[in-house]
Amino acid sequence: MSADRAVDDALLAAVRDRVARGTGPVTPERLAAALRETGAVVGSAAAEQVVVGLRAELLGAGPLQPLLDDPEVTDVLVNGPRDVWIDRAGSLQAVPIDLGDAAAVRMLAVRLAATGGQRLDDARPTVDARLPDGTRLHAVLPPVADGCTALSLRVVRHRPFTPADLVACGTLAPGVDAVLEALVRVRANLLVSGSTGTGKTTVLSTLLSLADPGERIVCIEESGELAPRHPHVVRLLVRRPNVEGAGEISLADLVRESLRMRPDRVVLGECRGAEVREVLGALNTGHDGGCTTVHANAAQDVPARLAALGALAGMTSEALATQAVSALHAVVHLRRDGGCRRVTEIAVVGRDRDTGDLTVEPAVLSPIGGEAVAGPGWARLADRIGWGRWG
Ligand SMILES: Nc1ncnc2c1ncn2[C@@H]1O[C@H](COP(=O)(O)OP(=O)(O)OP(=O)(O)O)[C@@H](O)[C@H]1O
Ligand SMILES: [Mg+2]
Repeated sequence: MSADRAVDDALLAAVRDRVARGTGPVTPERLAAALRETGAVVGSAAAEQVVVGLRAELLGAGPLQPLLDDPEVTDVLVNGPRDVWIDRAGSLQAVPIDLGDAAAVRMLAVRLAATGGQRLDDARPTVDARLPDGTRLHAVLPPVADGCTALSLRVVRHRPFTPADLVACGTLAPGVDAVLEALVRVRANLLVSGSTGTGKTTVLSTLLSLADPGERIVCIEESGELAPRHPHVVRLLVRRPNVEGAGEISLADLVRESLRMRPDRVVLGECRGAEVREVLGALNTGHDGGCTTVHANAAQDVPARLAALGALAGMTSEALATQAVSALHAVVHLRRDGGCRRVTEIAVVGRDRDTGDLTVEPAVLSPIGGEAVAGPGWARLADRIGWGRWG
């Protein structure tokens, strides 16, 4: 709360105390009732200030909540009590905010992790959790984080982008939306690639919203970020091992489990390890319409990235290439340049005739600031979506 507040700390403490003595969820109604019980006479603006402020403190991200509420902010990053940054409109900006001391930052991280159903302590000093409002939380405690707890919060939009929204904000060039919609309609297996924060998860959510409402989508994730607007979504989330190292349910385990759940689409939120073997295996065994995302700086880097992931699962490059070429029908690549996130390429996967290496051939090229044009792989992509020519 700001320094010019109309409510003093004693009143806040009194309301906080009353709420703490009660049980059940902290709702605005409970906060308002606790305020009335104190007998304090305050105007409606001050009463609202108490309710909003305490709700943020007890449930939300406390002093960081106003930053998360800014619609242009996508990430809030805390490196220290007075070292807070936001990613806003395409650039990182320092925020003049004072979170107290390192102990207060640690308490905030531990409380946020708890609201996301995870523990964060010396025995398990890192956490990846999803807060009740959808925000993704990552936190690392010292001494793993040097000096102060490091917090990374990723804002997730409450209303997923529709393809029309993505065209309007320039992420999809006109025409590219129709190609993507057609790929979803024909149940192509899609790999969304891009470097960090380019909008892969967001685009994947939008594409899944286009799936036939009669289909059953099983989403497998580390922290439950995908939010497709679709009537039939089942979420499976990994479980990390306990302090004795037992009880882990990994992404690979969940991909295997999902195949027994009568999925129409198996979706792996992010493929970043040995689970590449299970997901390619699933997509190769009749589970069409599957999707995943992968970190790669360019669509042409996807083969090397997949080979590196395959190596973690003990797959040779040859085995990986054989699996990937039949499992993946299109690569949808995203780039970010400042505030602009853009699907710059839709590519098809093939194999080099001479070397047998996996290749990624552009079918649609859509550079930032330019128009979408057909690339050398267009005929193969058009064939898959049943189109004759570009446009
Ligand atoms: N087209 C867009 N316009 C505006 N904001 C966007 C757009 N796409 C994504 N965002 C926002 O950017 C942030 C990052 O998006 P997202 O999580 O989809 O990226 P990502 O590539 O999956 O990131 P990561 O590499 O961390 O998995 C989110 O806050 C999201 O709401
Ligand atoms: Mg993501």
